[in-house]
Amino acid sequence: MPLKSRHLLGLQGMPREDVELILETAVSFREVLDRPIKKVPPLQGKTIANMFFENSTRTRLSFELAERRLSADELGFQAGGSSVSKGESLKDTARNIEAMKVDMVVMRHWAAGAPHYLADVIDANVINAGDGAHEHPTQGLLDLFTMQEKHGRIAGLHVCLVGDILHSRVARSNIYALTTMGAEVSVCGPATMIPRGIDRLGVSVFHHLDDVIDRVDVLNVLRIQLERDAGRFFPSLREYRQSYGITRARLEKAGKPVTIMHPGPINRDVELSADVADGEHSVILQQVLNGVAVRMAILYLLATGNQP
Ligand code: CP
Repeated sequence: MPLKSRHLLGLQGMPREDVELILETAVSFREVLDRPIKKVPPLQGKTIANMFFENSTRTRLSFELAERRLSADELGFQAGGSSVSKGESLKDTARNIEAMKVDMVVMRHWAAGAPHYLADVIDANVINAGDGAHEHPTQGLLDLFTMQEKHGRIAGLHVCLVGDILHSRVARSNIYALTTMGAEVSVCGPATMIPRGIDRLGVSVFHHLDDVIDRVDVLNVLRIQLERDAGRFFPSLREYRQSYGITRARLEKAGKPVTIMHPGPINRDVELSADVADGEHSVILQQVLNGVAVRMAILYLLATGNQP
């Protein structure tokens, strides 16, 4: 059974069966990553361009590795050092890359909606690797995979997204997919960082961690995006940490183990204390590993329309 769409642009409106298909397929590829030889042949002969117009460590390397693990040929493109600096448009850049017989394009862009635009102007499959503050669908899916791996289910889990919801594409993709899959979702952060009307997406809103921490199974802690001017939304990092920083003392109030997630990169001792980030309930590095398997599943399903 193929995915309903030939692109992965976002998780808003993605059918439950498609989320389930990606997560199930990722289980097979996660097993491949534990083998001595971590490479399988299904995308032999396919060429995938990774177009990054914004910085990335995890997502770019994870896609590159997923493509190599599937035996695809990968083509790297970073806006810095390219002819974008000479004024070449996104459409011309992408069409020129596609002319080299590229089958799929993975794109991160600072502009919300850029991958949707790209999908209209090229024939290759397009995967959104993060568009502005809009969506980060592969991060959302790897987060769900990690929750399912840790808790054995998604339906009925209470997941609280903490911090800068306003600027967070990760929050939006998590909310769409988690509500589709039947999780209970809440957000917690300063009023200035919670978008007005977010409750219409089916989430509960909290402004004090202590009001919600004893009810949650998972805290998905978001980065304060200082590069998007997030520092203007609260008085100081010290005050942010006092109100929303996840510390051991705060977690003890939960009275039960709470799974700690973070998409990275972490501002250590701001969003999370170092001992919590590296502690026994943190699955942050499992998220990174699972990201490779989930991206292998997405590439595979889009390229072949089949299950392995
Ligand atoms: N989680 C995430 O998107 O990290 P990068 O910005 O390093 O890709």
